[in-house]
Amino acid sequence: MTASATDRINLSAPWIDERDEELVLEVLRSGWLSLGPAGPRFEALLADAVGAPYAAAVSSGTAGLHLCMRLAGVGPGDEVITSSYSFVASANCAIYEGATPVFADIDPLTYNLDPAAVEAAITPRTKALVAVDIFGYPAEYDELIAICERHGLALIEDSCEALGAQYKGRPLGSHGHPAVWAFYPNKQMTTGEGGAVTTASEEQHELLVSLRNQGRLETSSWLQHGRLGYNYRLDDISAALGIGQVEKLDRILEARGQVAQRYNELLVGVDVEPPLADDADHVRSWFVYVVKLPAGVDRDGVMARLSDQGVASAPYLPSIHLQSYMRERFGFSEGMLPVSEDCSARTMALPFHARLEPSDQERVVDALRNALA
Ligand SMILES: Cc1ncc(COP(=O)(O)O)c(C=O)c1O
Repeated sequence: MTASATDRINLSAPWIDERDEELVLEVLRSGWLSLGPAGPRFEALLADAVGAPYAAAVSSGTAGLHLCMRLAGVGPGDEVITSSYSFVASANCAIYEGATPVFADIDPLTYNLDPAAVEAAITPRTKALVAVDIFGYPAEYDELIAICERHGLALIEDSCEALGAQYKGRPLGSHGHPAVWAFYPNKQMTTGEGGAVTTASEEQHELLVSLRNQGRLETSSWLQHGRLGYNYRLDDISAALGIGQVEKLDRILEARGQVAQRYNELLVGVDVEPPLADDADHVRSWFVYVVKLPAGVDRDGVMARLSDQGVASAPYLPSIHLQSYMRERFGFSEGMLPVSEDCSARTMALPFHARLEPSDQERVVDALRNALA
């Protein structure tokens, strides 16, 4: 069925095909719905795709970030530095362990953490850094790794939006530190809900496998628990979908790249700042297509006018430190992070997914032009 000129254009859509359906049906028919063979198969494919020795599938990206706080030994009284221009889970994971999130400001072009701001935010209580590859654009790892080494901090990579991205010629996930992935249906690939942590350390991997499975030890029976753990397992139905998705990941990423390229071309002459282009060190994996509006433009008005024309959009991303629960709990307020706050006020996601039709993209850009006029 082809879309009519008046159909609503949604923000995102997963790419599910017959192979995915077959793989999920296989699991359903096997009756082995959890802790079966699909999990390890999915993990092996994912590890291979990101160039990491180990992958532990978990129930969400948030769960993966939380487990990484346990890996880093984060606890009450500690501080964890991260970006405010991210999804709340990047900071919530620290709070789950009784630590305080500390936000460093970002670079206005990459929207990722500014390494100098990270270094300036370090105190004797800083335990870890959660670096985010926002919108699939790799953060500045050489500098961030050096800072973490200098100050004895654990580095966790929130690569939930960046599956397939590359930093300095190597895929994210292959740089040694733990990296967290997320597979909610708006992501490059999906397992419904789901996530994973990849790492180069066997010891970290064993701990992750235990923590996600209620703290069971490799040697323990089902009702023996060696440590405080969680039920953060990924079920086999989700893992089976993940297998189908990783199998076609290259095609998905290529299609998303083409959709982004079309937007880049269509937006020439429209008064918005397009996403930063790749360079020799940074190859983005396209997660969302976010534009920055000129200062002073009424973004809510633009979004309302897009909606009137059947085009979805979203105010990506609000600054985490200004969320109501963060203000109440930590006393954060406006003015703390000028760059992050300015980006939060001006950036906006347009409809974006692997199979967005060129004609729909033209409609989106026409609608945006009208909305800005
Ligand atoms: C940057 C970032 N971190 C963490 C997460 C959390 O992933 P999940 O929704 O699977 O818990 C997301 C997902 O939206 C994300 O975009």
